[in-house]
Amino acid sequence: MKRKEFFSSLFAFVPLVLGFLGISKISVDFLNPETGNAKIRKIFAISLEDINIGESRNMTDLKGKEFLLIRTGEKKVKALSTTCTHLGCTVYWQQDKNRFYCPCHQGVFNPDGEVVSGPPPKKLNSYDTEIIGNNVYIYLKDKEA
Ligand code: FES
Repeated sequence: MKRKEFFSSLFAFVPLVLGFLGISKISVDFLNPETGNAKIRKIFAISLEDINIGESRNMTDLKGKEFLLIRTGEKKVKALSTTCTHLGCTVYWQQDKNRFYCPCHQGVFNPDGEVVSGPPPKKLNSYDTEIIGNNVYIYLKDKEA
């Protein structure tokens, strides 16, 4: 094989290899959406003075990501996605029943976001929180573009 033919055949495989790597990356991200290139943002959510124990607040960050914040104790808060894991409707916190409720198909989640009844296939996504002084911060995960 001549040198010119060798390099020609070598360069013919470059697009194939790049295409394979691209498809592999997309497949991994699809199968495991929580990892991949997740970008984490720490945002200020609320002051503890503005939410009583047992209360919740629906919030939207500047990027339009919706989440629900629940104060569960003196220095305890929980942050969960408001997107139902069934077909994506918005879930609501029902304080009197101590549960999340999805009105679309009567999906019910417990205070930890785990499925109690209905068609949702998995628990609500949750976010890490941190309390510094009286300020509550949430760590939101975004996928990089
Ligand atoms: S979308 Fe929530 S139960 Fe179907």
